[in-house]
Amino acid sequence: MHIRVLGSAAGGGFPQWNCNCRQCAAMRNGNLRAQRRTQSSIALSDDGVEWVLCNASPDIRAQLESFPAMQPARRLRDTAIAGVVLLDSQIDHCTGLLSLREGCPHSVWCTERVHEDLSRGFPLFTMLKHWNGGLQWQPIELDREPFSIAACPHLQFRAIPLVSNAPPYSPNRGNPQPGDTIGLFIEDLRSGASVFYAPGLGQVDAEVLSWMLRADCLLLDGTLWRDDEMRVCEVGQHLGSEMGHLPQSGPGGMLDVLEGFNRQRKVLIHINNTNPILDEDSAERALLERRGIEVAYDGMSIEL
Ligand code: MLT
Ligand code: MN
Ligand code: ZN
Repeated sequence: MHIRVLGSAAGGGFPQWNCNCRQCAAMRNGNLRAQRRTQSSIALSDDGVEWVLCNASPDIRAQLESFPAMQPARRLRDTAIAGVVLLDSQIDHCTGLLSLREGCPHSVWCTERVHEDLSRGFPLFTMLKHWNGGLQWQPIELDREPFSIAACPHLQFRAIPLVSNAPPYSPNRGNPQPGDTIGLFIEDLRSGASVFYAPGLGQVDAEVLSWMLRADCLLLDGTLWRDDEMRVCEVGQHLGSEMGHLPQSGPGGMLDVLEGFNRQRKVLIHINNTNPILDEDSAERALLERRGIEVAYDGMSIEL
């Protein structure tokens, strides 16, 4: 299985266009050893030719340009995108579909609740009907049964409902139900290698833990280092726990959860611009390194 990180930042990217927090400002001024990052999305493939997008970020155009495999140029109009899976209906995870309109129709896998959000509050499915068939909805059930995507027949996908939060525009905000956010457990049927991908993860319950233990590689929510980071950085009032993002530090945080995960490759993704792990010289980044936890970057490729 080939995994390409197209974007590794949380909503807003890094540096965020309107932000002058310590890290965003230092990045612009050349005073931070860090990498620029676009908003989170990964692509998966079993053959390196046909790719499945997991989430479609507002930065998709630049992301596709930066990865030549996405344009195989087999015909006049072409793309390597053979399907899109949405893990939630967050703006940073589905707005890229608007930029893919010239290539409609696209098959889009998502849960009924995400389809509902994207038909009403942010009606991408409704609008894009006007572009050559638009988005063809492929429902994701929450029965834990595997599903497959024809273009990548060697990959087996499973949706795991996660406790996170629905987007700010959704009627489900503050009262998330199973299906508002999922994680994906993806297995390569040839090698048995597997990855668990969860860019929006608010709580690690027993079921999530069991899929994490089974996976060979974990690509997990790396939004915030501390729960009150937005307040401490004076850029917002929301706690990570309110937004549905488990912070890395503190009791029960991601670092605690990952204790004992010695076998797995551990990678944090969907990193907010306030998070000190972006600073390659920070104590927090050094701590991750000692724990064997990697920080995803744009263009990172993982072979399983
Ligand atoms: C999130 O990950 O919580 C959202 O992307 C936040 C947002 O859309 O503002
Ligand atoms: Mn987000
Ligand atoms: Zn910032």
